[in-house]
Amino acid sequence: MSVDVSLAELLHAFVEVELPAAGTLDEAYACKVKYLGKKGLVTEVTRTLGALPPEERRTRGQQINEAKASCEAAYEARCAVLRAQAEASALGAFEDLTWIATPPMGTLHPVTRTRRALERVFGAMGFDVVDGPHVEFSRFNFDDLNIGPDHPARDMADTFFVEPPAGSRWSLGDLVLRTHTSPVQVRTMMQRRPPIRIVALGTVFRRDDDATHSPMFHQIEGLCIDERVSMADLRATLYRFVSAFFERPLEVRFRPSFFPFVEPGAEFDMQCPFCGGKGCSVCKGSGWIELGGAGMVHPAVFEACGIDPERYTGWAFGFGIDRMAMLMHQIHDLRLLFENDVRFLEQFPC
Ligand code: DAH
Repeated sequence: MSVDVSLAELLHAFVEVELPAAGTLDEAYACKVKYLGKKGLVTEVTRTLGALPPEERRTRGQQINEAKASCEAAYEARCAVLRAQAEASALGAFEDLTWIATPPMGTLHPVTRTRRALERVFGAMGFDVVDGPHVEFSRFNFDDLNIGPDHPARDMADTFFVEPPAGSRWSLGDLVLRTHTSPVQVRTMMQRRPPIRIVALGTVFRRDDDATHSPMFHQIEGLCIDERVSMADLRATLYRFVSAFFERPLEVRFRPSFFPFVEPGAEFDMQCPFCGGKGCSVCKGSGWIELGGAGMVHPAVFEACGIDPERYTGWAFGFGIDRMAMLMHQIHDLRLLFENDVRFLEQFPC
């Protein structure tokens, strides 16, 4: 076997077989000694140089030096890998220890937290928290709320109509993904007798999608019915609510507006909780923040739900939960709330 072949074989054995098999830095070093050490296999080949004729000696010498350099380079590369592995496993062990001490904790979504905070405040004010289905009868979502057949909200372009199950007695148009939480008013009035004080919180659906609108969002609905309930009670309740929620006295104001299920109807604003009404970037300098709609329950709604409008009066309000969450956490794009990007959600530890 010529020197050439044995050199190539040695190089292969060291670089391709033994070094990769070395699992620790010590093993890699032992391997290096076996080949490159004073009595190493490559070193032994060097000793054969002396026996060669001078003209061959130079080329052979060069070949041996190149082989040694390749071995050194392979050794350094293997050591770098092994060092990185050792470091990673040391870190891994460290991580394990902290994991035992503080297991990672999930947190509540900002909308869920806002929803629970609203339930707490209204609960403390004597309101029952009630629920309603997402798939709703068009009758409850529209007709019984005095929203006539020609109202634009009923358009296919605005509302998700749900195809009824085959063979059921419902036709297309009878079932919708509720467009607001107001149908829970209808369900409550049909099930309970006054006095009624409820809030209904939940998901609603509309064909809308941009930075400030999402096809799926969340609302809260409030309803109060008794004898001699007035718009003044409504205003006082909203005042108490915003003041309790933001933990400082905040004024509420009404602006005349129209919703088919209330008369009179209003939109209501609260004094900006961030500047106290002086004007800031959140309230865009106005000192007020728009919250939602409200008004006195329309007699037609009472009649549709079997409540005597001669004896009882009531008020209702509705506003967006997501907007409230955005306000509290200074979130500027509604879509962030629903993309479920963990990097965003992690910014709201409980
Ligand atoms: N349902 C209305 C909407 O989704 C909000 C609303 C307005 C609710 C007036 C009410 C109300 O109870 O009285 O836009």
